[in-house]
Amino acid sequence: MILATTQQAFGMVLLAIVLVGAVVWIAFNLRSSRDEIGSEIELASNRGKGISDEELEGKRLNTALFSAAGLLAIIAVALPLYWLGEPGRQDGAVDTFQEIFEERGQRLYEEGAQCVNCHANGAVGGVTSYIVNDENGVFVSEVNWNAPALNNLLYRYSEEEVRYILNYGRPGTPMAAWGGPGGGPLTTQQIDEIIAYLWTLQLSPDAMREEVDGLVKGIDEELFDSMKAVDKSNEGLADAESANRLSRADELKLGEILFNNQEVAAGSYSCARCHVAGAAYGQAWQPFARLEYGAFGPDLSGVESQATEQQHFDLVWRGMEEGQVYFSRKQGNPQMPGFGANPNTGQSDAGVPDLGPDGMLTPAQVWSIVTYERNMSNDSTVKSPVAGTSDSPTFSGNE
Ligand code: HEC
Ligand code: HEC
Repeated sequence: MILATTQQAFGMVLLAIVLVGAVVWIAFNLRSSRDEIGSEIELASNRGKGISDEELEGKRLNTALFSAAGLLAIIAVALPLYWLGEPGRQDGAVDTFQEIFEERGQRLYEEGAQCVNCHANGAVGGVTSYIVNDENGVFVSEVNWNAPALNNLLYRYSEEEVRYILNYGRPGTPMAAWGGPGGGPLTTQQIDEIIAYLWTLQLSPDAMREEVDGLVKGIDEELFDSMKAVDKSNEGLADAESANRLSRADELKLGEILFNNQEVAAGSYSCARCHVAGAAYGQAWQPFARLEYGAFGPDLSGVESQATEQQHFDLVWRGMEEGQVYFSRKQGNPQMPGFGANPNTGQSDAGVPDLGPDGMLTPAQVWSIVTYERNMSNDSTVKSPVAGTSDSPTFSGNE
C-alpha cells in the first residue's frame, strides 16, 4: 500500500498499535478470568465485617474534614471577592481591548498603511506629490497636494462618515480607497483600529480655536478683534441660526480667509480644498481655469440661486448626510463635512467618545463663509467658467 502523506503513515502506525494493544488486552482478560479465586461472600469487601468506630474516626478522617472545612472557607471568601472585582475586571478587559485597538491602529497609521507619509506624524496634516493627468491619461502636471490634518477630523465627520471615507477614498485625489468595500487592502477590523487611533489624536476645542484664531490674527488683527467680540457674545447660545454676526464687510473678509486658507492644518478648516479646483495643491483656479474635477467637491459659484441663506448656513453648519435631500434636488454626499455642530456629540452610548458640542468653527465664522460664498459670482479673483471649451480638459487624477 502506498501512503500518500506522513500524516497517513502516522495514522496507520497508531491504528496498528491500538489493534495490537486491544488484542493483548482481550487475551489477558480471557486468561485471568479462567481460574476461580474463591467465594464472593468472603472476598467482597462490603460483605465482610465492618471497621470499628475507633478505627474509622482516626487521624485520617480528621485531616479530611479539616481540609474540607479549609477549602470551603477559601471558597466562601474568594467567591464574593471575585464577584466584587468582576465589574472592574470586565471594564479592565474592555480597556485593554480598546488599548490593543489603538496600538494596532497606530501601527497601521505609521507602518502598515503609511497614512503618516501624507498626513504626517500625529495627523497634523502634510503634503504629497501627485501626478495630474487629463481625461485621456496624458500627463498634465506634477503637484504637491495637501493632505488635511486629521487631528480635528471627528469634529467634522461622524465615525460612520470617516469609515465611509476610509473605505472609498477620494477618487481624483491622492487619497486612495483603503477598505474592502472600495477595493482597498485593509479589513473592516483594521479600518476600525485606525479610527480608534484617530480618536486618540483629536485636539481639544480650544486648541482648534487657536489654530483658526492664529490664521485670522496673522492676516488682519482688527478683523480678528471683531471676530472674537462676536464669538464672545454668542457663547452658550442654544441655537446657532440666531447667533450674532459680523458686519457684511467683515463677513466677506473673514469668509474669504476661512474659505480659502490652505496654510493652517494643511487646509483642513477650509472649503477651497474641495470646492476650488487646484486649491489643494496651491494653484487655485490654475492651471486650467475652472475645471469640473481637480477638487473633490463641486464648484460653488452660483450656489446662492439654489438655496436660501438659511438652508445654506444649515448645510455648512451640519454637513451632509447620505440619503438626505439638500436644496431642491441634491442627494446628500457624506463627504461634505459639517463645520459647526460636532456630529459625534451625544453618541457616547454608541461607544463613541464625546468631545463636547463644539465643532470646528463658530456660528459667526460659518455665517461669514456663507456670505462670502454667496457673493462669489461677484468676486473678481474668481475666474469665469470656461467649461465646455476645448482648452478645459477635465481631470482624471492618477497616481
Ligand atoms: C498618498 C498620500 C495619502 C495617504 C497614504 C493617505 N492619505 Fe488620506 N488623504 C490624502 C489627501 C491628499 C487627502 C485629501 C484629498 C482631497 O483633497 O479631497 C486625504 C484625505 C483623507 C481624509 C479625509 C479628511 C478630510 O477632512 O477631507 C481622511 C479621513 C484620510 N485621508 C485618512 C487617511 C488614513 C487613515 C490613511 C491611512 C490608512 C490615509 N488617509 C492615507 C492623502 C493620503
Ligand atoms: C472634504 C471635501 C469638502 C469640504 C472640505 C467642503 N465640502 Fe462642501 N461639498 C463637498 C461635497 C462632496 C459636496 C456634495 C456634492 C454633491 O454631491 O452634490 C459638497 C456640497 C456643498 C454644497 C452644496 C452645493 C450644491 O450645489 O448643492 C455647499 C453649499 C458646500 N458644499 C459648501 C461648503 C463650504 C462652505 C465648505 C467650507 C466651510 C465646504 N463645503 C467644505 C465636499 C466638501
